[in-house]
Amino acid sequence: MAATLSYRVYKNALLLSAFLTSVQAQQVGTYQTETHPSLTWSKCTSGGSCTSTTGSVVIDANWRWVHETNGYTNCYTGNEWDTSICTDDVSCASACAVDGASYASTYGVTTSGDELRLNFVTTASQKNIGSRLYLLEDESTYQIFDLLNQEFTFDVDVSNLPCGLNGALYFVSMDADGGMSRFPTNRAGAKYGTGYCDSQCPRDLKFIDGQANVDGWEPSDNDVNAGTGNHGSCCAEMDIWEANSISNAVTPHPCDTPTQTMCEGDACGGTYSSDRYAGTCDPDGCDFNPYRMGNTSFYGPGKTVDTSSPFTVVTQFITDDGTSSGTLSEIKRFYVQDGEVISQSASTVSGVSGNSITTDFCSAQKKAFGDKDSFSAHGGLEGMGAALAEGMVLVMSLWDDHAANMLWLDSIYPTTATSSTPGAARGTCDISSGDPATVESENANAYVIYSNIKVGPLGSTYKSDSSSGGSGSTTTTSKSSTTTTTTKTTTTTGSSTTGAAHYAQCGGSGWTGATTCASPYTCTKQNDYYSQCL
Ligand SMILES: *[C@@H]1O[C@H](CO)[C@@H](O)[C@H](O)[C@H]1NC(C)=O
Repeated sequence: MAATLSYRVYKNALLLSAFLTSVQAQQVGTYQTETHPSLTWSKCTSGGSCTSTTGSVVIDANWRWVHETNGYTNCYTGNEWDTSICTDDVSCASACAVDGASYASTYGVTTSGDELRLNFVTTASQKNIGSRLYLLEDESTYQIFDLLNQEFTFDVDVSNLPCGLNGALYFVSMDADGGMSRFPTNRAGAKYGTGYCDSQCPRDLKFIDGQANVDGWEPSDNDVNAGTGNHGSCCAEMDIWEANSISNAVTPHPCDTPTQTMCEGDACGGTYSSDRYAGTCDPDGCDFNPYRMGNTSFYGPGKTVDTSSPFTVVTQFITDDGTSSGTLSEIKRFYVQDGEVISQSASTVSGVSGNSITTDFCSAQKKAFGDKDSFSAHGGLEGMGAALAEGMVLVMSLWDDHAANMLWLDSIYPTTATSSTPGAARGTCDISSGDPATVESENANAYVIYSNIKVGPLGSTYKSDSSSGGSGSTTTTSKSSTTTTTTKTTTTTGSSTTGAAHYAQCGGSGWTGATTCASPYTCTKQNDYYSQCL
C-alpha cells in the first residue's frame, strides 16, 4: 500500500511539474511556418578532396516576431516589452512566443547552393536592419565545428560593404540545441535560433536560458529596435572575419569558461555594461587587422587583396603538437584571389613581428599599442583553444554599430586619438563615418555574400592556380580543393620550376603530395604533420 501510495504521489508530482514547466516556458508561435533556407558546405580530407554536405541556416530569435502565446498581440514592439502582457522574466517566457521567419521578404536573407546573401536594409511591412544566422546540422541542432589542427575556408564578397558596416563570420560556444536540454523552459531551441552568446556577454537578447530578459530592460536611446536587460549571455568567440570593403580583422576572444553562461547586470562586462572589463570574457580580443598592423596598402579596393571583387579567406588553427588534442599555438591567415595565394601582411609595428596570431604577437601588440591585456587575463590563445576543443557554432551576420560606429574596425579609434597614435589607425574611413542612421539611409542596399564554406586538415581546402615560381613556370598545383577531383602531384623530376606552389603543403606525416617547392620557395617544417612552401 505504502509503495503504491508513494508511487501515486510521485506520479502526480511529475504531472504537476510538467504542467508548470509548460506554463512557464519560452513558447513557440505557429502563425508563420519556420522553413530554414538550405546551404551546402564541404568537408575536405588531407588529400584535398572535398565532400559536400547540405545544412541550413536559421535566423537568431532576437529578429523574430514575439507575440502573445495565444494571440497576435506583440509582446515586444520596437525596443520595448508590453508590460500589460507580462512584467518579469518568468511570466514573459510563458506569456510570449517567438514565431517563424520569412527569410527573404522580411529579413533579406537568401541562399543558393553554397551561397548565403545577407541584405542590410529590407523594407517590408516593417524595416529590418541586418541579420544574424547560424548553420544548422538538422532542423533543431546547430552544426558543431571542431577546428583545432584544422583550417576553415570561405569565399566572401565585401564589395558592397562600405564604412560602418560589418559582415562577420565567426564561431561562438553556443549549446548545439540552443540550450533546450540545459534549460527545459526553452521550448524554441536551435530551430528558432535561440541560445546566442558571445564575448561581449550581450544584454540585448530578449530571451536567455529559457527566460525573458524583461527585468531591468532599458530601450536604447539610439536604436529603435534594441535595448538592454539585466541579463547577458557569455561565451567564447572566435572572430574569423569581421570586415567591410575597407578593413578586416581576425580576433580570438576567450572566456574563463568557454560554454554559455548567463551573467547579471554590469558584472557582465563588455559593450553593454558600464565596466567593459567586469566580466568573465575578453571583450577586446587579440586582433590582427592588416591596416592596424601597419600595412595600409594590403586590403581594400584595388589593393593587394582587392575588395572590389570576391576572394577566399583561409584561417588555420595550428596546435603545438600538430594534433587536434594539442594546444592552440597559432592562428594563421591566407587569402586566395584570382588563383593567387596571398599570405597575411606582416606587422610593421615597432616591437611587434609576424603575420599571424601567437601568444608572443598578442602580448607584443598589447604592449606596443598600450592596450589593456584582457586577452591573456581570460586565458589567451590557450583559452581560445579550449573553446575550439569543445566545438563551436558558426555565425554569419551583417550589422551596423550603435555603440562605436564601427570605427574600431575601419577608422581611427578611440576618436580622441590621431592617426599617429600607436594602434589607433585601423582603416581609411572618416572618423565621422559609420553612424547607423546615416548608413541605414545612404547604404540601405549594402549586402554581403558568404559562399563555398570548407573545413578540413591544414592545406586541404585551398589551392593556387599557378605557381608563382620562376619565369615561364606554369606548374600545376600540388593539390585540388574542388569537390570532384583529387589531384596529387605528378612531379617526378627534380626541376626547380616544378613542385608545390607558394604556401602549399609540401610534407608532414601521411602526406603523399609534392615534397619540393616551386622556385624560389623552400619546404619549411611547421610541425610533424605539416610542412609548407615558404
Ligand atoms: C604590404 O603587403 C604587401 C603584400 O604582402 C607587400 O608587398 C608590401 O611591401 C607591404 N607593405 C608594407 C608597408 O609593409
